[in-house]
Amino acid sequence: MFQRLKEKWQVSWPRFVLIFCTFATGGSLCGYAGRKLLSLTSLGREDGFLYWVVYIVLITFLWPFCVLLISIPLGQFLFFRNYLRKMGRRITGKSSNSYEVREMRLKVDNSIDMKQLQSQAEEKVVRIAIFASGAGSNAAKIIEHLKGHKDIKVALVVCNKPGAGVIGIAGSNHIPVLMIEKEQFFRGDAYLAALREHRIGFIVLAGFLWKIPAALIQAYPGHIINIHPALLPKYGGKGMYGMKVHEAVIAAGEKQSGITIHYVNEHFDEGEHIFQATCDIEATDTPESLAAKIHALEHAHFPVQVEKLVLKR
Ligand code: GAR
Repeated sequence: MFQRLKEKWQVSWPRFVLIFCTFATGGSLCGYAGRKLLSLTSLGREDGFLYWVVYIVLITFLWPFCVLLISIPLGQFLFFRNYLRKMGRRITGKSSNSYEVREMRLKVDNSIDMKQLQSQAEEKVVRIAIFASGAGSNAAKIIEHLKGHKDIKVALVVCNKPGAGVIGIAGSNHIPVLMIEKEQFFRGDAYLAALREHRIGFIVLAGFLWKIPAALIQAYPGHIINIHPALLPKYGGKGMYGMKVHEAVIAAGEKQSGITIHYVNEHFDEGEHIFQATCDIEATDTPESLAAKIHALEHAHFPVQVEKLVLKR
């Protein structure tokens, strides 16, 4: 039973023990607080049925607060906050969005994969998340390159654009997809709890166009990388993505362009450079033909660089 719960929660054994202790201590605290509160009223055990009904109603309301309280010193607050949210949604019959349903379905499809994962030296494998909002050709190349890798697993695709090509790519590779919303990403906890639940150790941005919030950068220091389709520091910054970059490069009459792989900080395209590769631009090149050259460079180098960086992290 414990093994099944551990798999369901996707946590390590030490964390499982802490969660279990939180449930046990929170439950005891709840019973104690319920009895104390009832002792302040005129109700007593001698009132029989009425006493027990009031007691049960009382502890039903007290329980979430008690487990949340205990979860703080045990370092399990995010787990329990999520757990209670899910419970709340189940009770009210609401789902925060339809994509969660999709993610749950993918998780079920992924159950065979989860069993395989158990048999791997679990803590050794670095689980990476690919953040992407576009066609996902880079994501596809990375997934293909790392398929069957003994030390790295693409464990999650994070996407902010319904209908993006990358969602289908993740689905056909049995990788769960987490659909994110702007409000929660920028004003909430940047989905940190979800990333922790998937035990993500490294994040790769492959055509992800939102700025990464400070909460995420602080949680993954030096563990988030991005690919940009130009030779940074030129042609980077807010609004410079995809075809807009290639149009600007061609309009400026550049003789060369290329790709930059860099660490992510709180400013668009400004993190420390890791790798660059170049290609020549001919007089006959258009933004479209340049885009094709850049994609070829990205596909040749990005998966290899991702593997190198994850292994040396
Ligand atoms: C890639 O060319 C990537 O460099 C670019 O988006 C494209 C995504 O293509 N990223 C940026 O412009 C970030 N500023 P893909 O969806 O086919 O991988």
